Amino acid sequence: MLSPRVQCSCGGLLEVLHESKASGPSLRSRFDRRRVSDPVGQGSGVWRFRELLLPGRFDPVTHPEGNTPLYRRDPVARYTGLVDLALKHEGENPTGSFKDRGMTVAVTQAARAGATAVACASTGNTSASMAAYAAQAGLTALVFVPAGKVAAGKLAQALAYGARTLLVRGDFDRCLRLVREASEALGITLLNSINPWRLEGQKTIVLEVLQQRGWEPPDWIVVPAGNLGNTAAFAKALREARGLGIIRRMPRIASVQATGANPFYRSFRTGFRRRFRVKAETVATAIRIGDPASYDRAVRAIRETDGVVTAVSDRAILEAKAVVDAAGIGCEPASAASVAGLRHLVRRGVVKAGESAVAILTGHLLKDAETVMRFHASRGARRNPPVEIEPTVAAVERLLGRRR
Ligand code: F0G
Repeated sequence: MLSPRVQCSCGGLLEVLHESKASGPSLRSRFDRRRVSDPVGQGSGVWRFRELLLPGRFDPVTHPEGNTPLYRRDPVARYTGLVDLALKHEGENPTGSFKDRGMTVAVTQAARAGATAVACASTGNTSASMAAYAAQAGLTALVFVPAGKVAAGKLAQALAYGARTLLVRGDFDRCLRLVREASEALGITLLNSINPWRLEGQKTIVLEVLQQRGWEPPDWIVVPAGNLGNTAAFAKALREARGLGIIRRMPRIASVQATGANPFYRSFRTGFRRRFRVKAETVATAIRIGDPASYDRAVRAIRETDGVVTAVSDRAILEAKAVVDAAGIGCEPASAASVAGLRHLVRRGVVKAGESAVAILTGHLLKDAETVMRFHASRGARRNPPVEIEPTVAAVERLLGRRR
């Protein structure tokens, strides 16, 4: 499909279908070989899986991205109530979030299709990533973000990478409606996860997890959920991997929303008989979304992986974040929803203590330094406030509790 169009004229979403003739075992060994050396994919943890993303001969617009670590940290595992927990840290991508995986594919395809300008609505990370990849590809970038509701680190990235940044007087949902209309009217390529190539790249979060585990799926994959692109992409990756014989068993997906931004959770509770739209509010601004674009795809994702949807309070998110941070890893607030949600699901007995889980940390700690500083300046458990002192050894000693 070499067209800059990414939306169907019927208003629905497009999906990429692959015609891979290779078998699961041969693909697995090809992917494993490329982990050691891959001149074409340039060492990217996305392009290593290119047969399942965007086949053909071209030079990808790559940073490179992916190859993110799978951490095991006992304090975090204990906090969730599991023994077998790994944290996939997507915040360790080049621009500090998982968005780089989708963006490398979508920007590559946009450039191939002759696009000159790209646009997105964003709670911050998509815009930071798009701005970086557009700069690399030499494309004009137009960003629509909700005024006053984007963490400073993300906004700084969009500006620094040179995107024309519009602070829209409205929430993310309004920004998304606006950019859909504007990109259609002005012939600009839309790079939100409505763009099917974004999901192709984001599938590699799951493919890389499977590869890092020697192609042995965990029982659960837990992911923070906002616009529902990842939830949809993960199920597509698993569906295709099982269809090709790369894996034999589907892990279950658990999607975690913030209580103040929980339309998908509300729908889940009705067995997806009703769709909800809410006015979203949460400290986790990345997932402050009331009308998710990938709703239909995500319903399919939960159904076909026998998945669950849950929601956690801002308080639970900040507590889980403090645990992840203090383990020396760190993440942004929305990312900690996966850990908070997993703890909640283990406590409710939905996830069993003996099961294995991979929780996705979607963004880097430094994306939202304001929330960290506010948390540690407030009262409560797990706080680590800074202390101002006179510049003397005596003052340091006093602080350490050793009096001269
Ligand atoms: N975590 C982080 C750090 C995010 O930035 C996002 C989405 C999500 C989770 C939710 O993922 O939308 O696939 O369900 N951020 C988008 C943005 C909306 O504009 O950066 P999802």
